[in-house]
Amino acid sequence: MSSALSRRQFLAGSAAMLGAGYVPGIWSKTTPTRLPIPPVVDGSRGRPIDLRIRSGTWSFKRGVRTPTLGFSQDYLGPTIRTRQHSELDLRYRNTLTESVAVHGHGLHVPGEVDGGPQLTIEPGADWQPGLSIVQPAATCWYHSHTHGKTGEQTYRGLAGLIIIDDEVADSLPLPRRYGVDDLPIVIQDRTFDEQGRLVYSLLDADEDGWLGDTIVINGAVAPVANVPAGKVRLRLLNGANARFYIVTFADNRTFHKIASDGGLLEAPVPLTMMEMSPGERCEIVIDMADGKTAGLLTLFEDEFDDDEEGVLGSLSNLFGRSEAALPPPSLTLTVDNALAANTAPLPERLAAIVRPQPQEIVRTRDFMLGMDNGDGDDDGGHGAMDMTINGAAMDMNVINERIERGVWERWRIRSDQGAHPFHVHGCSFLIERMEGETALPDQRGWKDIVVVDDDDWSEIVVRFDHPATEQYPYMYHCHILEHEDRGMMGQFTVS
Ligand code: C2O
Ligand code: CU
Ligand code: CU
Repeated sequence: MSSALSRRQFLAGSAAMLGAGYVPGIWSKTTPTRLPIPPVVDGSRGRPIDLRIRSGTWSFKRGVRTPTLGFSQDYLGPTIRTRQHSELDLRYRNTLTESVAVHGHGLHVPGEVDGGPQLTIEPGADWQPGLSIVQPAATCWYHSHTHGKTGEQTYRGLAGLIIIDDEVADSLPLPRRYGVDDLPIVIQDRTFDEQGRLVYSLLDADEDGWLGDTIVINGAVAPVANVPAGKVRLRLLNGANARFYIVTFADNRTFHKIASDGGLLEAPVPLTMMEMSPGERCEIVIDMADGKTAGLLTLFEDEFDDDEEGVLGSLSNLFGRSEAALPPPSLTLTVDNALAANTAPLPERLAAIVRPQPQEIVRTRDFMLGMDNGDGDDDGGHGAMDMTINGAAMDMNVINERIERGVWERWRIRSDQGAHPFHVHGCSFLIERMEGETALPDQRGWKDIVVVDDDDWSEIVVRFDHPATEQYPYMYHCHILEHEDRGMMGQFTVS
């Protein structure tokens, strides 16, 4: 088993080996790129949003053109903005020569508009889901969910953000000027060949999934953004196929996490580093009032190895060295004093989170994520691995679980090998335990992804309020997209 599958990890080798700032030779010595900000489209006024699934050409770094996919743009898609208690009408048109399914990750909507693999859009066809947005403010996303091709299509660019607003969030003095002090940050890693083309192969992916060697932020390598000299909110999405990141800053500054996958936490949580697994969102606020440049580091968690020091110990070693020993930032924030600053103190309370009483939890289900290598006489190779949940690989014709609507359940999840980000459609849930330990304060908000491993159970409490039929069931799956595409996924109905 490769060390990359272990999460209790320690810095191995030199900081330069952390890779997070590795820039291939073809791109060295060019002037820094500005952080691309995806255009925002307002879906809250009932006007439908057209999203053309198309191919394009995008420069991840100036001077190199890369064939890509996107939604109405060359790479990624616009940020869709909507509100609680509004209708969101999307009109997808597939202009590719392959079929595509597009899922609204984190949305509480019925299975028939959830965009699972049954909801394939054929080449030349349209799909027009009408979404009633009932959930609170959150940063969600949309991405390819095509059967067996989620990894490849997402990697090439089929992903975008969805921001939901509500009255609670509006009433708080949080930074909210999109692209100014409220920045969408999609973190991904990609591998490019000498011509600058994206390299991807599901069959060649190893057991950890497809790991790129170059970090891209909103599709740019090591970009720079100018921000006001005040509070700045980053809506971080780990949009990588398989990579777990340690997110921290080059000056080891404290930041505040204010929201997790499903919305605002009860209170801001001060942190100097955090883990982000594939698919997760974290909203953080940093204070730029001192005028100092902030370098966002997105360290490759798999570059840390098992050691009693753990990630924290390793990081303090890392920060104990000279700043030159640190990997270069994935994103640099520099202050522009001409921009109006939000200097309001962070609110002490954010949102109320009502947890179920123990007697409200009516049943328990267990899920075991399996990646055993079959008979063991083939020599590994991702393609040969069986990726399963409770012993079964994803089968579009099998409903794995049938769930009653509107009641709380406890789900216990673990794996037989390594760490996996377990994701559930159609809900937000609350984490009670993560790998056997009580969830930390920054993990006690609404979530739709929980990290599980082979040491101990992770436990969530979950309730589904929307229907999902046999024809259009929901999915639960590992969000390492190569694991998902290899079968580590199951289907369930809610009725
Ligand atoms: Cu973001 Cu079913 O996934
Ligand atoms: Cu999802
Ligand atoms: Cu997995």
